[in-house]
Amino acid sequence: MNLNIALLPGDGIGPEVIDQAVKVCDAVAAKFNHSINWTRALTGAAAIDAVGEPYPDETHEICVNADAVLFGAIGHPRFDNDPSAKVRPEQGLLKMRKALGLFANVRPTFTFPSLIDKSPLKRERIEGTDLVILRELTSGIYFGKRGREDDGNTAYDTCTYTRAEVTRLARKGFEMAMSRSKRLCCVDKANVLESSRLWRETVQALEKEYPEVEVSYEFVDAVAMRLVQWPNSYDVLITENLFGDILTDEASVISGSMGLMPSASLGTNTSLFEPIHGSYPQAAGKDIANPLATVLSAAMMFETAFGLDAEAKAIRDVVDKSLAAGIVTEDLATEGKSYKTSEVGDWLVNNL
Ligand code: IPM
Ligand code: MN
Repeated sequence: MNLNIALLPGDGIGPEVIDQAVKVCDAVAAKFNHSINWTRALTGAAAIDAVGEPYPDETHEICVNADAVLFGAIGHPRFDNDPSAKVRPEQGLLKMRKALGLFANVRPTFTFPSLIDKSPLKRERIEGTDLVILRELTSGIYFGKRGREDDGNTAYDTCTYTRAEVTRLARKGFEMAMSRSKRLCCVDKANVLESSRLWRETVQALEKEYPEVEVSYEFVDAVAMRLVQWPNSYDVLITENLFGDILTDEASVISGSMGLMPSASLGTNTSLFEPIHGSYPQAAGKDIANPLATVLSAAMMFETAFGLDAEAKAIRDVVDKSLAAGIVTEDLATEGKSYKTSEVGDWLVNNL
């Protein structure tokens, strides 16, 4: 098979972790007789520096024409403490999500047997956790009307959803639940928010189309608590954009390191795969960042974008092997010995 993949390394540790994923993908392609055509494009601060904006038209062209997009990270500290900055790397990310129609962000959370004691949570709480948070990604408060009142002392951001937006996300959730343990949790704040009441109503209306799925409706504050108390009681959770942003960071703690969790963003035009961690600027260029979240995102890409399940499994298996063998970056190292980002990548390639 010929795979056309757009490659967006982005900022900070993005380029380093992307390099490892590319090595692993090329090795998998060689093993299974595929050929990958990578097309690199600029995003984030790197794009602002080169062409003055964080998601240039050329990058968009490359993404829409690709079968899938593999993305590193976006963000640079020089923009964080500058409220007056006219363009920000994150704007590029939001523009890209919208332009590519990436409405469903799939963020799985699972544990690795060899790392279970790395989590700050107790083993008995998290053992067996295997859940997916499906976050709506192209609407809600991230894209609603925002602004300042005339005097500048009052600001607002609005959370708007249409029934159609909720329906397409919820359908993905039901379908995903059908392919897993058939449990779906609708996360909202329907006791307070009107947009949440629309979510609840819409999900309730879909229930009869999926009679096998057991649906629960829970408030986001309660979910935030149960997620770290009994994560293994969840299967698929669906939620709006901002709740999903917060809950997925929280959920990443369960696995023991943010450097492990992959994600997929499913769209109307194409799909994008990226680690859930950010650009981690303090580590940029030091060859110390954990490449596994990006490598596992590539596994999701083989499976989701190309239907190549054996290839995805080969990647996951070699990642498991590396963890069990202790070939880990410093975030996961226990007794002193840790490996560089590029060494972990090389080990994966050699052991595939
Ligand atoms: C994420 C990030 C982004 C978000 C930021 C960088 C805009 O935190 O992908 O979760 O809030 O969606
Ligand atoms: Mn986030």
